[in-house]
Amino acid sequence: MITMKIPQLMQEQYQQAKEIIENAEDIKIYSHIDCDGICSGAILSTTLDRQNKDHEIEFVNLDVLDNIDLTHELTIFSDLGSGQKIDANAKKGQKIIVLDHHPPLRDLNYKDDKDYTYLEINPIHHGIDGSYYVCGGGLCYFLAKEFGYTDLSWIGVLSAIGDMQNTKTGHFEGLNEIIQQDAIDGGYLALVKNDLNIYGRNSRPLFVALSYFSDVNLPITNNTTETMAILEELGIDEKHNRKTLNELTMEEKTKLYQKLVEMISKVVPGKYVKYIPQLIIGDSYTFIKEDSNSFLSDGSEFSTAMNACGRNSEEHVAMEVLKGDRFVALDELEEVSLNHRRNLAKAISKITEEDNTSIIELENLQYFDGDGIKPEIVGTITGMILGYCNWQKPVIGFTQTDEDGLKVSLRCSRLLSYDGIHFGNIIREVAHDVGGSGGGHAMACGAYIPVDKKSVFLEQFNTKLNGKLTN
Ligand code: C5P
Ligand code: ZN
Repeated sequence: MITMKIPQLMQEQYQQAKEIIENAEDIKIYSHIDCDGICSGAILSTTLDRQNKDHEIEFVNLDVLDNIDLTHELTIFSDLGSGQKIDANAKKGQKIIVLDHHPPLRDLNYKDDKDYTYLEINPIHHGIDGSYYVCGGGLCYFLAKEFGYTDLSWIGVLSAIGDMQNTKTGHFEGLNEIIQQDAIDGGYLALVKNDLNIYGRNSRPLFVALSYFSDVNLPITNNTTETMAILEELGIDEKHNRKTLNELTMEEKTKLYQKLVEMISKVVPGKYVKYIPQLIIGDSYTFIKEDSNSFLSDGSEFSTAMNACGRNSEEHVAMEVLKGDRFVALDELEEVSLNHRRNLAKAISKITEEDNTSIIELENLQYFDGDGIKPEIVGTITGMILGYCNWQKPVIGFTQTDEDGLKVSLRCSRLLSYDGIHFGNIIREVAHDVGGSGGGHAMACGAYIPVDKKSVFLEQFNTKLNGKLTN
């Protein structure tokens, strides 16, 4: 049952945003390079196309927006903007719309004394959690809905999957539920409630998919010999007929679920036991208008492909796929995804093959230097490195952005975030203290800091975690 409604004031903001767009001719969109940002961009761009509005769109990292020059009549920021000084150079009469779910620097009254139009739609201003209840793509979808374009709801759902809005409970809550229902009602989305949730249900053999389990180090983590043995022992997979998760019956999924619970219970401290089902159970999302054999039919795999585009400066490919121009773009998407996977694998083996010497463990955290890794993919790599580390501590990856700057990415086991630690808030504080900026989710976050502040950053981070982890 849908329990949350868009608050009145927020609804009024959407009406204002619609009017601003209807009266603008010269429009620029800035959006974020991740799945959420790309979905946001696709929803906005489709809306503007249908309104016959010329527009430019650019996908950017968060570190280029402070003091940006505004060169258009109307600039729209999606999935970013609330946390950056985007209007420092706004000129009289210009118009700005921000659709962002990250913690805002400015309050609702900020617009009042300006000689330019400033409209920021951020759920946090309305008491709505931006980590679990709505993300950038969802906010853009509600704008599209204001114009009547509910057929874009499935992109809103995709953005929320990419933004991991459902990580805590395994299903969507808050405003996300409205978007999900619109997508179901429109015939775009099928939901399996409380499904076994292992990434790669369509495109990976189950024994491979299982080996990536890294929230807890299990005998099966990064060990396909072990995953094959377990699946064969359970009688749900055989040597010459390897299955995907999607091919399992409900009964087989239940067997696997029980086995995973048994394995995880053996290695986690008692206080985490109650969270085990959350690690492996969650709603699964199928886009029913996609070919059922395509990786695009699974919500998580589609979102990974969008991320692969964003992280490799190929957002135009993702945009074409989302906007429905699939003729060439689908092949390009597969190529981008394949290259992305190869680059990730290369980086992972470089970091892990040196007898683990490149992963350094401190009392409360572990880190590695991602020498030469692109800032855009260090986060994804950090997440994968978690499987080679101590899951009871967060792992931090560093890579240089330019001569003076470091990009920092942090990932941790979902168990730490279920237990109440919000690393996004911690990294924001520590980054700020060393003259940088940061933020993000409880279990996936990042920062930009001055390169000469790396050791102070590590030291402060480590100290800040004293007493917070179960060692
Ligand atoms: O870049 P990475 O994938 O590690 O980012 C993880 C999360 O941290 C993203 O949601 C991103 O928006 C957030 N982040 C942030 N501020 C930064 C860097 C990343 O809020 N300076
Ligand atoms: Zn987002």
